[in-house]
Amino acid sequence: MKIVETILELQQQIPNGKTVGFVPTMGFLHEGHLSLVQQAKKECDLVVMSIFVNPLQFGPNEDFDRYPRNFERDCLLAEQEGVDFLFYPTVKEMYPVQPALTVKVHEGVDVLCGKSRPGHFDGVATVVLKLLQIVSPERAYFGLKDAQQVAAIEKLIRDFHLRVTLVGCPTLREHDGLAKSSRNVNLTRSERENASNLYQSLLLGKQVVEAGEYRSQKVLSVIEEFVRKNVTGTVDYIEVLSYPELGEIEHLSGRCILAIAVQYSKARLIDNIILDVKGEF
Ligand code: PAF
Repeated sequence: MKIVETILELQQQIPNGKTVGFVPTMGFLHEGHLSLVQQAKKECDLVVMSIFVNPLQFGPNEDFDRYPRNFERDCLLAEQEGVDFLFYPTVKEMYPVQPALTVKVHEGVDVLCGKSRPGHFDGVATVVLKLLQIVSPERAYFGLKDAQQVAAIEKLIRDFHLRVTLVGCPTLREHDGLAKSSRNVNLTRSERENASNLYQSLLLGKQVVEAGEYRSQKVLSVIEEFVRKNVTGTVDYIEVLSYPELGEIEHLSGRCILAIAVQYSKARLIDNIILDVKGEF
């Protein structure tokens, strides 16, 4: 595996005529990231991973400084998984000057994480656009745990005519259902035990839908009730929306997302389930 820190070096080293799979990350890798690499390896000739904690997507009171980092461990994991190029730029390399232009996401940002993280998806879209320009991959791999991010990047690719295929990959989970996330290390022991209830609440919502309840408000109430009784963190949101449009819906029909975000003492966790609802209502 080659570790490359500059844009020029990366562009010079990626050979022509190969199908490039790209896995953008902010590091502190876990099995979720590695599953993206595995998928990319199956479908592409070579895999480029980036590790860059993007300051543009963190609000002033968010966890940019606290965001976990361990580059040496990441290198070992990426190499073991068969990453060919690890792009590890500095902030100065990615933003050598104050950007004169950034991307603004207009749709699907007044719900879910967009509500409490104003500007977050603008920062994500801006850096993803830059990374896609730098790497020029055929395929780019993103985890569906960040479903709102995937929806925004789908629109980025569509609206800016980017020649890349987005591959959304399923969420990887711990044995008790907690979605794997770099932020899980910031949970206390009791919070970690409690955090599996996020997924349990969504599963309950899914069961209710599968049993024939398609009214969003009813499904929401069941999830909220479970969360009120079982989750110790502070709920940021629980929402039932269409996916990937992220529109409010009275009834679940077609692709829908059940999503939750909870703030624990030092970690804000998100999770979701995407359902394909075929029933009548
Ligand atoms: O999902 C992430 O880790 C980040 O938002 C991404 C896509 C690497 C952009 O910084």
